[in-house]
Amino acid sequence: MRVALGADHAGYRLKEKIAEHLRKGRSRFDDISPSNEYDVVDFGTSSKDSVDYPDIGIRVAQAVQVGDCKYGILICGTGIGMSITANKIHGIRAALCFTTDMAQLCREHNDANILALGARVIEPETAIKMVDIFLTTAFAG
Ligand code: RB5
Repeated sequence: MRVALGADHAGYRLKEKIAEHLRKGRSRFDDISPSNEYDVVDFGTSSKDSVDYPDIGIRVAQAVQVGDCKYGILICGTGIGMSITANKIHGIRAALCFTTDMAQLCREHNDANILALGARVIEPETAIKMVDIFLTTAFAG
């Protein structure tokens, strides 16, 4: 599964952690499917130098819009800027989530195709759990 990742300077470190986690192919279904792997497409940023979050948010949203990536994960300080940006792109349903329950429900009830996270407001361990849940939960219809 191709997953687009993007972050501004505030989300850079968390993006790197999530990318490393996904590239290892870890998921909550490891026991069932140990070969689960993600093809991570990294849209930056690539350092802690200040950047404008919409520049990256739009690229990730467009990659999901055209089907190049099935899902996107966008990270800024609060997740607010990235979610506002991504939701301006037709066909994008970006969900700003703070809990694992929200990550599950945004897939089940909203068919969200982008998960927006705030690196300054959630713990990295929680973020990684949320990513795993988001990527492995189906839309309930
Ligand atoms: C950057 O300092 C910060 O404004 C940005 O990461 C984000 O939180 C905006 O919504």
